[in-house]
Amino acid sequence: MKRILIVYHSQERGNTRRMAELVAKGCREVPDVEVEMINVNEQRVDMNVAEQADAYALGSPDYFTYMAGGLKTFFDDLCLADWAGKSVKAKPYVAFVTHGGGGDAIKSIHDLAEAMELTRVAPSVICQWAPTGSAIERSVQLGRALAEYAVKMG
Ligand SMILES: Cc1cc2nc3c(=O)[nH]c(=O)nc-3n(C[C@H](O)[C@H](O)[C@H](O)COP(=O)(O)O)c2cc1C
Repeated sequence: MKRILIVYHSQERGNTRRMAELVAKGCREVPDVEVEMINVNEQRVDMNVAEQADAYALGSPDYFTYMAGGLKTFFDDLCLADWAGKSVKAKPYVAFVTHGGGGDAIKSIHDLAEAMELTRVAPSVICQWAPTGSAIERSVQLGRALAEYAVKMG
């Protein structure tokens, strides 16, 4: 059984939560995969849970052309957990962002993912407001691609 941890910040309108749910749907289409979703605006991620994950899906609204604070705290916690000897870095990941007209916050996620030696396994999905139209299927596909990658890793 492979464990996918979906870490997302959603607060204002639930846009990013909606996208996270679509990513989770895609993950669950792959056999032998279990999914845990954590809204880091409501709850901090336990680093034991992060350690047990085989892959991360990371989502955020664009806040001032940067990721929102909850996701940044997740990255900070990963760094500290790594220094404490936990196996939380160097995992596969995908990323998704919602925005109100910008969307460049995706770069901040990729930068910190690189710092944590995470490997991006599919192109990111960036969407204005809540996903509609093709963004719905692209979000599902993002989750499916991550889960398939995790299963193939063995
Ligand atoms: C504090 C704050 C800052 C924001 N900054 C930006 C921004 O710089 N660029 C942008 O396109 N949208 C910006 N937005 C809009 C959000 O990214 C957008 O509404 C997002 O979909 C909200 O996601 P949520 O409903 O999951 O919280 C901002 C919203 C808030 C509350």
